Amino acid sequence: MLLLDGKATSEAIKKEIASQVEQIIASGCRKPHLAAVIVGEDGASKTYVASKERACAQVGFESTVYRLPVETSEEELLNLISKLNEDESIDGFIVQMPLPNHIDEQKVIAAVDPRKDVDGFHPVNVGRLSLGLTTFVSATPYGIMALLEHYKIETRGKHCVVLGRSNIVGRPIANLLSQKGEPGDCTVTVCHSRTKDLAEHTRRADIIIAALGVPEFLKGNMVKEGTVVVDVGITRIPADNEKGYKIVGDVAFDEVAPKCSYITPVPGGVGPMTIISLLRNTLQAYLMSR
Ligand code: GUN
Repeated sequence: MLLLDGKATSEAIKKEIASQVEQIIASGCRKPHLAAVIVGEDGASKTYVASKERACAQVGFESTVYRLPVETSEEELLNLISKLNEDESIDGFIVQMPLPNHIDEQKVIAAVDPRKDVDGFHPVNVGRLSLGLTTFVSATPYGIMALLEHYKIETRGKHCVVLGRSNIVGRPIANLLSQKGEPGDCTVTVCHSRTKDLAEHTRRADIIIAALGVPEFLKGNMVKEGTVVVDVGITRIPADNEKGYKIVGDVAFDEVAPKCSYITPVPGGVGPMTIISLLRNTLQAYLMSR
């Protein structure tokens, strides 16, 4: 069993981005600039946005975070999005999800200029992805593809089972892995909460992408020998430590790992790849706008 080390892989990509930024600045241009909007006090969201801010600083990007109170109205948020769409000093921005219940997420996503939608959530970018056109691939699926590519995991003709059908991970990764190319050319099965005999599918899988958000869902008896397992889960569960919680994946690692050819750890697998992919998209937005 080998670990798909997202931390090391993302560090290597981070160095490449930092060196591109150095060249950009040396040529007299301004830094790429990512903005993030966060509404409310969700603990996990605050942690993610802080990580994104830190990663921006590490590669030499400028970053701005707009922290709005939980009672911010939909109209106020849409007004800020219009401002960010117009602001030429900002190359890309994200609105951290989830949003408070009184705000319509789809309306917010649709309000972002697709050219600045470095999350790849806008219907235009989702459509472009499904057509195999150049687009902003949302960060988690983009990071998974980069990790499979980095480790030269053979995907052609393999049976890939995706657990979860979310707009952010399940659907786009199923799409990408079934497209022509390397990584790609997989036969993909998407399983979800209504799938019957789910373990029948996972036991036939060569590659499993676990993105259900159910801690330790995938057990040892649900995978065959030699499977490649990518764990997207990042559920916080209470723990007796300084933070008061620990992060648990969707895979029962101790049972599943001995049967795998490759597996991502949690933390240190998909998480760092997601952040670096957002930076890649921001650089792409910067270069496209020039
Ligand atoms: N919430 C969980 N993942 C994401 C993400 O990739 N982008 C945004 N904007 N919100 C999220």
